[in-house]
Amino acid sequence: MNLFTSDDVELTHDQAEKEIKSLQKEINHHNTLYYIKDSPVITDAEYDKLMRRLQEIEKTYPNLITPDSPTQRVGAAPLGEFAEVQHSIPLLSLAKAFDAGELSDFESRLNRMMPEAKFDYVCELKFDGLAVMLKYEKGIFVQGATRGDGFRGEDITLNLKTVRTIPLRLLNPDDVEIPDILEVRGEVFMTRESFDNLNKNRADKGESLFANPRNAAAGSLRQLDSHITAQRNLDMFVYSLATPVEGIETHYQALQYMKKFGFHINEYTKVLPDMASVIKFCEEWIERRSELTYDIDGVVVKINSLKLQEELGAVSRSPRWAIAYKLPSTEVVTKLLDIEVSVGRTGSLTPVAILEPQEVDGSVVSRATLHNEDEIKRKDIKIGDYVLIHKAGSVIPEVISPVKEKRDGTEKDFILPKSCPVCGEEVFRPEGEAATRCMNMECPAQVKERIRHFASRRALDIEGFGEKLVEKLVENGLVKQPADLYDLKVEDLLPLERMGKKLAEKLVNNVKKAKNKELAQVLYALGIRHVGQHIAKVLADHFETIDNLAKASEAELEDIHEVGPEVASSIVEFFSLEKNRRITEKLESEGVIKKPIEGDNKEKAGEKKLAGMKFVLTGTLQNFSRTEMKKLIESHGGRVTSSVSKGTDYVLFGTDPGSKYRKAEKIGVSTINLEDFFEILKEDSNSPQGTQSFK
Ligand code: IVH
Repeated sequence: MNLFTSDDVELTHDQAEKEIKSLQKEINHHNTLYYIKDSPVITDAEYDKLMRRLQEIEKTYPNLITPDSPTQRVGAAPLGEFAEVQHSIPLLSLAKAFDAGELSDFESRLNRMMPEAKFDYVCELKFDGLAVMLKYEKGIFVQGATRGDGFRGEDITLNLKTVRTIPLRLLNPDDVEIPDILEVRGEVFMTRESFDNLNKNRADKGESLFANPRNAAAGSLRQLDSHITAQRNLDMFVYSLATPVEGIETHYQALQYMKKFGFHINEYTKVLPDMASVIKFCEEWIERRSELTYDIDGVVVKINSLKLQEELGAVSRSPRWAIAYKLPSTEVVTKLLDIEVSVGRTGSLTPVAILEPQEVDGSVVSRATLHNEDEIKRKDIKIGDYVLIHKAGSVIPEVISPVKEKRDGTEKDFILPKSCPVCGEEVFRPEGEAATRCMNMECPAQVKERIRHFASRRALDIEGFGEKLVEKLVENGLVKQPADLYDLKVEDLLPLERMGKKLAEKLVNNVKKAKNKELAQVLYALGIRHVGQHIAKVLADHFETIDNLAKASEAELEDIHEVGPEVASSIVEFFSLEKNRRITEKLESEGVIKKPIEGDNKEKAGEKKLAGMKFVLTGTLQNFSRTEMKKLIESHGGRVTSSVSKGTDYVLFGTDPGSKYRKAEKIGVSTINLEDFFEILKEDSNSPQGTQSFK
């Protein structure tokens, strides 16, 4: 049997069990190499193959799925709320030291309390994330919880299962036994890169932004739906062993012990003999923090001996044997020279502060994102202000606030331009969103992304038009908007790098084939904001042609079940741009959009009874709520709108009809009662009278 290609798993239960175990072991091994040791030995594709094979077998034998299987990291069914977890030993917090003097005070206190003792220290980075505990029973991860108030936290097991560096099953080292119960603690965090990507993504979607990686990590861990957590790329450093283990006498040994089980242990931890070297370590990290891919906010200094730790104990919820040295963040004043507006690849306008260059913690800062219009208003920032800047989480330059005392009256309010700084078309801020956007399909800032989306598999599925080719096409001026693809000729493509005649012909042919597509597919391909595949289908069913859709008003759109105000205004805004209309007209004339079935043919094709008809409802409709009636009409292809106009086909009235009924009479729109309406729906659509009697 071919191991990796079959869809059907032809294994006996016993064989399946054996293979599942071996695959799990192999995948866990590669997970450790990849996520913990940063030294993978197989390619992503090979890893995916193993994972797919495991999924396949588990699909055939679901009773063999164990909670620690690597396939279980993708998220589980959403919870209603988190359960409460009582911590076996409270999660304490740390006393703080803000300078070398306070570190020396810490040492003096220790000397006073233990004049005889000789101790060394462990210095660890203080990760800026969220404290959590993990519990293992016989080597299997069974529970994870937040710190909460230190005594009780929230059960976030499902979310923690999605964090790749948390072992679901402990590795089985040769030289140590897996204890029956093991509890460890540590910090869940997000790297700055993952944070930036997440925020970029959220900005593109007009969603609110996370202020820093710590908030993003916290927000991700507190999701009731673990599928969301699974997409957030969280990581965890384990920094303490909560269950005592025989033979382990120092904190540093405990860290090495936990490392053997596959936990992510930070590489910069050091054992140091005295306070002078501890202070040096702290000073070193003031300089070095920006080298890291994640945020730290200090250094944690711990006494290495576990016995001494126990003897020293804790006072008011902080242990006496540890202290957190807080790294200073430098705040610098500089002048805000201007605010530029950049346009992202999906059209969002982002104001960027242009600053008089200033050195902050080791590098020169001259630009800083201001996120959006509201952020500038909230911070009351004006062009020409002196502003306080720092590096948020040590790396990302951020404007904290204006220095209002330094204002001389020449400062100017920032006004977000009404037109796109790249293409000049009018911009638009959707209701309830923080981002303002350019909706022009031809906008050079967005054109690559729009074309790539247009040709992508879920849109028009034009094979061969991936990111690289699209980039070349745009950069060589061969396409300026998606519909230009249909003008491409073999001769146009030939001069491109790595393009042979055969490939060029194939590509042109692929475009030619991408015609006569369903309207829903084309609507989705246009990349109108908020119009995903499902809404595209709803719109296509309702309007049948792109012209009808382009002419629809916001009110008309909102009348459609499932279309909310955001979708409606986004569509109207899209079609209000002349350039976008020209593109859709071209798509029509090129035959990209399948023609709707018309007139009599509609009936022949078994088309829906009320197709294309507009209804307005008035009065009490017997046992039907408005929503139910609307759904019923829509399920037969009709539409319900809120106000009566000449374009209305019928006013459907119940008892006590209101002013809409009178208006219909006045302007000559047909009215119909419920009985007649149902009569018509009942009629056999194949009978010739059936359709004629309606109007
Ligand atoms: S030890 C009793 N080590 O700092 C000591 N804490 O106030 C328990 N933190 O929210 C903590 N990095 O999550 C320890 N290397 C580290 C740490 C660390 C970050 C956090 C911890 C807690 C806070 C302590």
